[in-house]
Amino acid sequence: MTTVEGPAGSALQERLRHFRALLGPTPVTPVTLNIGGRPRTVHLKLEGHNLAGSVKARTAYGLVRGLLESGRLRPGDRLLESTSGNLGIALAMLARYLQIGFTAVVDPLVAPESLRRLSELGAEVVTVTERDASGGYLLSRLDRVAELLKENPRYVWTNQYGSPDNPAVHRELTGPELLGQLPESPDAVFAAISTGGTFAGVSRYFREHSPTTEMVAVDIEGSVAFRGRPGRRHLSGIGASRPSAFLDDSLVDHLQVADIRSAAHYCRLVLREAGLHIGASAGAVLAGCARYLETHPEAELVVCLCADGGEKYAGTVYNDHWLRSIGVAPPGGDAAGSALSGSAILSGVG
Ligand SMILES: Cc1ncc(COP(=O)(O)O)c(C=O)c1O
Repeated sequence: MTTVEGPAGSALQERLRHFRALLGPTPVTPVTLNIGGRPRTVHLKLEGHNLAGSVKARTAYGLVRGLLESGRLRPGDRLLESTSGNLGIALAMLARYLQIGFTAVVDPLVAPESLRRLSELGAEVVTVTERDASGGYLLSRLDRVAELLKENPRYVWTNQYGSPDNPAVHRELTGPELLGQLPESPDAVFAAISTGGTFAGVSRYFREHSPTTEMVAVDIEGSVAFRGRPGRRHLSGIGASRPSAFLDDSLVDHLQVADIRSAAHYCRLVLREAGLHIGASAGAVLAGCARYLETHPEAELVVCLCADGGEKYAGTVYNDHWLRSIGVAPPGGDAAGSALSGSAILSGVG
């Protein structure tokens, strides 16, 4: 694969500034759901409305800005990233916007819709098929990234798992945007973790500007992103095969670990009750929030960061056949829902 000759460094910086103007603000809306047999209002920040359809538009911007400003990305270089889908789509869009090349290293969990979008945006797609020792694909993808970097000196790795520019951009953009959209300091903020960058950045901002807010990280069964036990995972976006480089106890007040059934239940509940189509990780976040609300009857203003919309998940959490194919009983109606909100979340770590 040859690199794409593109604009000079100063032109790249200028284009990146224009890209920044396209990010957010994404809407925040209250929805009222039956949680534990009682109507509770939850505010949803809908990052599916962001450029490229997810919160990762912000991450892509932050990572590329950091590379450009430090001189590590130069004209003629090609971006490279290991991605479960959303960051890949955001980087593919940004690379096209900047008129530079992009290679995405993906795995079989990536939704067909995401692969289609990567191709439409002109990205080169490299798929790894070997699961790593912890049952996921992340470590295999990172091995492939290391090989590609060795083989191609003009490839530049954005490194979402390790770059401090990942959490930094969420502290700079996502945190203040969210707090500014709320009438007062929220009791709690919930967000999914994979690299942990979104959560870490938002949490750091809230620690400084809204210190009474409880920050609740939501992970998925089988993930080791933050203290979890490794196991097979079936969803992309939420969870990781290795611990987050960005999270520590100072940023996480509570951890909730959701399973696929509860994530599917809350995706469907929000669609049914509010007409909003949220992604699988957002369903998990809602499940974590519901569990928290059951033990925090006093909490009034709570916010769930919904990383993307539901369009890409028609074949997974919104699909009963898929759930059965991975050994998960599809969630039932409201009665099943109240049972789920009490039991299907595996653990809440205070
Ligand atoms: C759908 C979805 N939810 C949540 C996340 C978690 O984001 P982070 O990597 O910042 O922890 C991602 C990241 O790819 C995602 O795609």
